[in-house]
Amino acid sequence: MAIDLTGRSFLKLLDFTPDEIRYLIKLTHEFKHLKHNHIPHKYCEGKNIVLLFEKTSTRTRCSFEVAGHDLGMGVTYLDPHSSQMAKKESIADTARVLGRMFDGIEYRGYSQSLVEELAAYSGVPVWNGLTDDFHPTQMIADMTTIEENFDGNLQGLKLVFMGDARNNVANSLMVVCAKLGLHYVACCPPESAPADDLVVTCENLAAESGGSVCIESDVAKAVAGAQIIYTDIWVSMGEPAELWESRIKLLSPYRVTAELMAQAAPDAIFLHCLPSFHDNKTEIAAEVEKRYGVSELEVTDEVFESAQSRVFDEAENRMHSIKAIMYATLN
Ligand code: CP
Ligand code: NVA
Repeated sequence: MAIDLTGRSFLKLLDFTPDEIRYLIKLTHEFKHLKHNHIPHKYCEGKNIVLLFEKTSTRTRCSFEVAGHDLGMGVTYLDPHSSQMAKKESIADTARVLGRMFDGIEYRGYSQSLVEELAAYSGVPVWNGLTDDFHPTQMIADMTTIEENFDGNLQGLKLVFMGDARNNVANSLMVVCAKLGLHYVACCPPESAPADDLVVTCENLAAESGGSVCIESDVAKAVAGAQIIYTDIWVSMGEPAELWESRIKLLSPYRVTAELMAQAAPDAIFLHCLPSFHDNKTEIAAEVEKRYGVSELEVTDEVFESAQSRVFDEAENRMHSIKAIMYATLN
């Protein structure tokens, strides 16, 4: 059956069938081919989109902007301080105003309920550019990157997420793996395990797809034979900086190191949504090093820079996948 996502919002992957997700991944490969071969693809000419960012961003913002321009659209960016949203105007009112002017709305911020409310009131597709709970556009890029490395096949691969396994990226990975038949392992201490209700939902999805979901605190058991090792920062945007001390104590055993990679499958790849604290060359990492004496956090510089690392392919694929998502929902 042909897939038609016209008019749909992209808020979380739980809303999409496996076939719909596979369709978006296929479109991503196609848009990457067009871009790499300099074939114009202004398929959304005459449309306009608005990007609302309440948290900072490099990849997501630039991906929406470049993808929007490549598709021939007008792109408006609103930073956290330059609109009336939430401060002087409710989300419902903002959504109804923006929906009269724009063909699609991207939102990055805090609560998942806010992006759901935008979608409920705007009357146009709304794309979730990251909330505290989920980061769905990242997943289309990640699955595309995995397909590029495993002959286009996702079914049956083992993906291990190391560290803060209840954050937005980890939650979304668990969902997409469960939908697409991968074996997902959250390797973390009990304090960082994903919420029970989401785990149960994903276990049920995995039972249908032939995948599995496992929460494992033993690193050696978790990574044995894994094809994909994935991690993310230990303190996410919106969480207080005071958490660094306890997170470093809690999650240091789950840092991705060369020794850990050696226990995975011989063809294993390393993924990270980025940005990453793999060295002390950022303001936050330098401050953390000064206070707590640790210069590499969720992953060592050695792994980040290794031949197994695919993090910059993954970052590039953000743009192709966001283009696919916008095209599919706008046309
Ligand atoms: N991975 C990701 O979403 O990066 P940005 O925060 O730079 O958008
Ligand atoms: N978990 C991270 C992801 C950044 C892309 C955060 O929310 O800060």
